[in-house]
Amino acid sequence: EWARRWDTVLSGSMKDGNVRWFDGGQLNITVNALDRHLKTRGSQTALIWEPNDPKEASRRFTYAEVYAEVGRLANMLKLQGVQPGDRVCIYMPMVPELLFSLLACARIGAVHSVVFAGFSAQALAERINDAGAKVLLTSDVSYRGAKVIPLKHIVDEALQHAPGVERVVVYRRGDGNVPMTTGRDIWWEDALRGVPTACEPVMRHSEDPLFILYTSGSTGKPKGILHTVAGYMVYAQYSFENVFQYEPGEIFWCTADIGWITGHTYMTYGPLLAGATIVMFEGVPTWPDAGRFWEIVDKYGVNIFYTAPTAIRALMAKGDEYVDRYDLSSLRVLGTVGEPINEEAWWWYFRKVGRERCPIVDTWWQTETGGIMISAMAGVTPSKPSYAGLPLPGVQPALLDEQGREISGNPAEGVLAIRFPWPSMARTIYGNHQRYMETYFLPYPGYYFTGDGARRDEEGLYRIVGRVDDVINVSGHRLGTAEIENAIDLHPEVVEAAVIGYPHPIKGQGIFAFVIAPQVSDPAALRKEVVELVVQQIGPIARPDKIVVVPDLPKTRSGKIMRRILRRVSEGRIDELGDTSTLLNPQTVDILVAAVKSLG
Ligand code: WT7
Repeated sequence: EWARRWDTVLSGSMKDGNVRWFDGGQLNITVNALDRHLKTRGSQTALIWEPNDPKEASRRFTYAEVYAEVGRLANMLKLQGVQPGDRVCIYMPMVPELLFSLLACARIGAVHSVVFAGFSAQALAERINDAGAKVLLTSDVSYRGAKVIPLKHIVDEALQHAPGVERVVVYRRGDGNVPMTTGRDIWWEDALRGVPTACEPVMRHSEDPLFILYTSGSTGKPKGILHTVAGYMVYAQYSFENVFQYEPGEIFWCTADIGWITGHTYMTYGPLLAGATIVMFEGVPTWPDAGRFWEIVDKYGVNIFYTAPTAIRALMAKGDEYVDRYDLSSLRVLGTVGEPINEEAWWWYFRKVGRERCPIVDTWWQTETGGIMISAMAGVTPSKPSYAGLPLPGVQPALLDEQGREISGNPAEGVLAIRFPWPSMARTIYGNHQRYMETYFLPYPGYYFTGDGARRDEEGLYRIVGRVDDVINVSGHRLGTAEIENAIDLHPEVVEAAVIGYPHPIKGQGIFAFVIAPQVSDPAALRKEVVELVVQQIGPIARPDKIVVVPDLPKTRSGKIMRRILRRVSEGRIDELGDTSTLLNPQTVDILVAAVKSLG
C-alpha cells in the first residue's frame, strides 16, 4: 500500500553508486506489515515468543495486538523526543519488545540501528557514536542459556564513551535491580504508562532511510550499512514468499537474533509483510539440552525452519537421540544461512531433521544485499548439497577473473559480483559514501563486489567458496581480522598481531592470532590478557580460539604480512607453503611451524 505511487521503478546506476528504486513513492512499511493485515487477519497470531527458560510461560500476540503494541511504543518514542530521521539505537535481548521497537521506529520515520546484545561496551559505544543516536532502548539483563548477561551494566559503561545519548529506556526482563541514572534513564513501563496505542504512520519517501546495521569489513572500523524503505520492503516480502514458498497460515521460525540482518529481514519484516505467524526464541540451541530446537518445532508445529550451519553442526555432534525424540512432521521446508554448509551437515539436516521430506534452501546473501540473492526456491528450483543454487529471478550474478572480466560458460570459478541493481541493495555506508564506493563499486566498475569467491557448476548452480578478503566467518558471524588485530594491538606488550581464520569443525572458522611480544616473560598470562582484551573491545563472539606468541611474522619485501603462509601453517599444510624465498624473513617460517605445533 502506497500513499503515493512511484514515478520511476529504477534509476541511477551501480557505477555511480546512486541507485534508486520506486522514486517518487510515499509509504510506511508498518502500514504494509501491520495495518494492511488488520481487515483480513487481525485475530491471527503474528508472534509466538518462546522464553529462554522452558518453564517460563510463552507469549502470543495477534496482528491486532502487535499493531497496538507498536503504536503505543511509537507514541512513547515521540514523547521522548524522537523525530523522523533520528537514529534510535536498540541493544536488547530477544523479547517481543525488541521486534516491536524496530517497527515503532519505522512507524514514526525514525531510523533504527540495532546492535547485537553480544557486543561489548566499546563496540556498542562506537556504533552509537557513528550513528549519532540520542535515544537508546535496552533491558536490565538478558537470559542466554544458563547465563545472565548484564546488559544495562554494559550500556552504562558504553555511555561513558557515548555522551550524545540523552535518553535510555530500560525494559525490565529480570528483577530490575540495576542502577538508573536520573534524568537519563527511564523504565519501559513508566515511559509507556497512559500512552495511547493509536499512532498515525509517518509517510516516508521510497528512498528515505529505514535502518542502519553495522557489519565488519576488511579494515578496522565497522560499516554502518544503510537500507531504505521501499526497495527493502518489496524485496523482503518477495524473497520470503518465493524462497520458502510460504503458504498462508504457515508457522515460520527463523532462529537468527534480530541483531543481525537475517533477524531484520526474515525474523521481522519479511514474514510480517507476508502475514505469517512467527516464532521468536530468546535462548540458545543447547540449553537446557541439545533437543531445544526440536522441542520448539514440535510444541508449535513449525512449518518452515531457518537456521545457521554452525547450529546444525553443533547439534549433530551431540547425537541423534535429541532430534529423534520429537515429532517433526509439521516441517515442510528447511533453510540455512550465514556460511557454507558442508555436505555432512547438509545430509544430517535433510535426513534427521527433515526426515527426507523437506527441501533445503541454502540461502546466500549479505547484510549489504538486504535479502536472499542466491538460493533454491523450495521444491521449485534444484537443491544440491553445499550449493546455494540459482539466483532468484531478477538477480544477475557474474563470476569475474583476476582482470575483472566476466567468465562465461560453465563450469567456472571466480570472484562473485552482481551485474544489475536489485531493490534491497544497501544505498550507502552511513556517513561515508566514499567508503561505500571504494568497497563495493570501484573494485570492478559496473559491478557490485561481494567479497566472496564462487564456483558455478554445469547446470549454472552457484557454490560459495569463501571470502576473498580479510573477513572471516565464525559461527555464521562476520568479523574483520583487522578489527581483532586492532584490539590485540592495544596490549602494551604486543608489538604486532596477525589474525586469520582456520577450519573449525563446529564454528566453520576459528580465530587464530599470531602475536609478536618480545618482552613478554609469561606467554600463558599474555594469552589470557589478549583474550580479555578482545572480549572487552568487541565481545565474546570475537574471542580467539588459538593464540601463539612468535618472534616475527612472515613478510614480503614491501612489509606486508603473508597471510597465506599463516593460514597454511595453522592448517598444518606445511608441505603446501609454496615459494617462501621471496619473503623478507624466510627463516621465520620454521619458527612459526614449531610454535604452532607446540600449541597442540
Ligand atoms: C557473508 C555475509 C546473510 C545473512 C547472514 C550473514 C557468507 C552468507 C552464505 C551461504 C555460504 C554464506 C558469505 C557472505 N554467507 N550466506 N548460504 N553460503 N556463505 O550476513 O554477516 O553480512 O555475512 O556470509 O561469505 O559474504 P553477513
